[in-house]
Amino acid sequence: MPVKNRFAELLPEITAWRREFHENPELLYEVHRTAGRVAELLRGFGVDEVVEGIGRTGVVGVIEGRTDTNGRVIGLRADMDALPIREATGLDYASKTPGVMHACGHDGHTAMLLGAAKYLAETRNFDGKVVVIFQPAEEGGAGGRAMVEDGLVDRWGIQEFYGMHNMPGFPVGSFAIREGAMMAGMDEINITVRGRGGHAAKPHETIDPLVCAAQIIVAMQTVVSRNLDPLKSGVVSICVCKTDSTARNVISDAVRLEGTIRSLDEESRRLMHDAVRRVAEGTAAAMGCTVEVDLVEGYPVTVNHPKETQHAIEAAKAVAGEVDTGMEPMMGAEDFSFMLLERPGAYIFVGNGDTAMVHHPKYNFDDNAIPAGASWFAEMAERRMPAAA
Ligand code: NI
Repeated sequence: MPVKNRFAELLPEITAWRREFHENPELLYEVHRTAGRVAELLRGFGVDEVVEGIGRTGVVGVIEGRTDTNGRVIGLRADMDALPIREATGLDYASKTPGVMHACGHDGHTAMLLGAAKYLAETRNFDGKVVVIFQPAEEGGAGGRAMVEDGLVDRWGIQEFYGMHNMPGFPVGSFAIREGAMMAGMDEINITVRGRGGHAAKPHETIDPLVCAAQIIVAMQTVVSRNLDPLKSGVVSICVCKTDSTARNVISDAVRLEGTIRSLDEESRRLMHDAVRRVAEGTAAAMGCTVEVDLVEGYPVTVNHPKETQHAIEAAKAVAGEVDTGMEPMMGAEDFSFMLLERPGAYIFVGNGDTAMVHHPKYNFDDNAIPAGASWFAEMAERRMPAAA
């Protein structure tokens, strides 16, 4: 079965928006230009209500169907922010801002949802309201939570949320999804190990926090392998180790470790938090150091609700014919999860083909995925709120 014909016609226009966003990437909440352009386009489509500044720089558009007999309201969400990466694609529409790049395809997500909004505002072939949501700060700033805290759900009475992300490695325009946990929960590890610095040639007069930190890093490898049920999934990665010494012959006073915890369920998350803390504190005590362990809760697990996953699959089947419904969960994190904590919904991947992975300087969103992605958003609205007979 084909994509909606209208999106084949709109492809050049949607592609032009996408490339314009790609050329002008913005970080986190600083998506002022992007948000302004999104709002301008939505108004041009004749969207009934356009509100800027939700969750600082988020944009919300409301499209009313021909009728509203059941009071149905569906939220469709895209993200707008880029990454602090120096682009290496060599594209003629590559980033004009050095060191900032749309390396996760949020330019594509924004353009596809704009395309769906244009189509839905033209056709209005549904009974109820579609709320199109353009969020800032997906890449670590919890912009989804900011929009929720700014009253997104209640102000527009959103009953279900649907979101999409592109994924390299899956055929262009194909769909993949799973019920339940789809993306991991992510928490930050911040550890400061304190000892007593001194001359490297007089180690017996010091308490070396770097040797202690090294032991902690090694001992952390047992958190997953010797604490977590082997049938559960988890990651503990220590990725930063900084001393306050820059000299090869000085033992420093303190060492800072930073890392991440990933989990697919709350019980594993709690278990890993407890184990990380216990291992750091116990190892430090054994080595005569003191330690501060600060575990910061980040994005929750992205959990697709059962019924809504089925709805998302049906819409994807209408677009692409077949859908991978049994993909493995991914240990990346996604702040659409904050919306799924508020209301039922589902998150789906649209294939980006054989490109570099997201967050790579040579990644690029494939514009050939646009008709499928935009059609899916439109199908979600029309299928969840069929036009009154
Ligand atoms: Ni992303």
